[in-house]
Amino acid sequence: MSASDLESRVVAAARRARDHAIAPYSHFKVGAALLLPDGQIITGCNVENASYGLTMCAERVALYKALSEGHRQFSLVAVVADTADPTPPCGPCRQLLWEYCGDVPVVLANLDAIKARHQMRELLPYPFDGRLLGE
Ligand code: THU
Repeated sequence: MSASDLESRVVAAARRARDHAIAPYSHFKVGAALLLPDGQIITGCNVENASYGLTMCAERVALYKALSEGHRQFSLVAVVADTADPTPPCGPCRQLLWEYCGDVPVVLANLDAIKARHQMRELLPYPFDGRLLGE
């Protein structure tokens, strides 16, 4: 499979995951997908709740699902929202994606098309991470 076909598959998986978003408060549904080196794709959607503050973003749902299943290496991240401009990961998600996925490509899409491509190091310049803790 070509790199662009693979990217399309990951974006399509994030788009499908978005259908499961629980966003009754913001009405802002997001889907995320992580590509594993073996071609598997792990997805997530945002999950809101009545306290608002305990909301979990789609990216972290996907990441925690993957980590809890033992996956530790990631090749690509896709995020899909229904916005004309690309929806990038929020600050906390950038921190977690950087720490667990490293400098992976991040593809941002809406329901029609891919709108932007970035590397994680561009999205989180000058990061705090385990290196500073002596890891
Ligand atoms: N949200 C995500 O899931 N990912 C992002 O990249 C941006 C924001 C969610 C959190 C909340 O449920 C809703 O979008 C509005 O902020």
